[in-house]
Amino acid sequence: MPDTLGKAFRLAVMFLGLAACFPLTAEIDEERAGELRHLLIQECGSCHGLTMRGGLGPALTPEALEDRHDIGLRAIILHGVPGTPMPGWNWKLSEEEAQWLVDLLREGVE
Ligand code: HEC
Repeated sequence: MPDTLGKAFRLAVMFLGLAACFPLTAEIDEERAGELRHLLIQECGSCHGLTMRGGLGPALTPEALEDRHDIGLRAIILHGVPGTPMPGWNWKLSEEEAQWLVDLLREGVE
């Protein structure tokens, strides 16, 4: 049944193509990584604490984020939490960069 095979192949290619459109593991170059680290400590740190142990905003330590999903954390970072002081950062950060910050927080910021 070459037709079915062809269909499956086209579907697979389409799927891979789609996946490639949302590469949340995009490379962040060293310069941007430095800027993001600076942003995290200076700006996020002003509310979440310089070591992310909490302040006006909650702790963002690896333990505190253990049970949270990447997708929810990215959404909060990009869009903020309405009705709270947590602002959205999508004017400054891409989705990849928000994910990069989530990964950094999961590693721990000292
Ligand atoms: C003006 C203060 C303020 C700044 C600046 C700020 N936050 Fe927040 N953030 C908050 C508050 C307050 C909350 C809790 C919102 C709520 O009540 O759900 C929060 C919540 C969060 C959460 C969700 C935590 C959880 O357990 O639900 C994440 C993740 C987060 N902030 C990341 C960041 C990052 C990353 C930055 C910098 C790019 C940042 N925040 C900057 C005040 C701030």
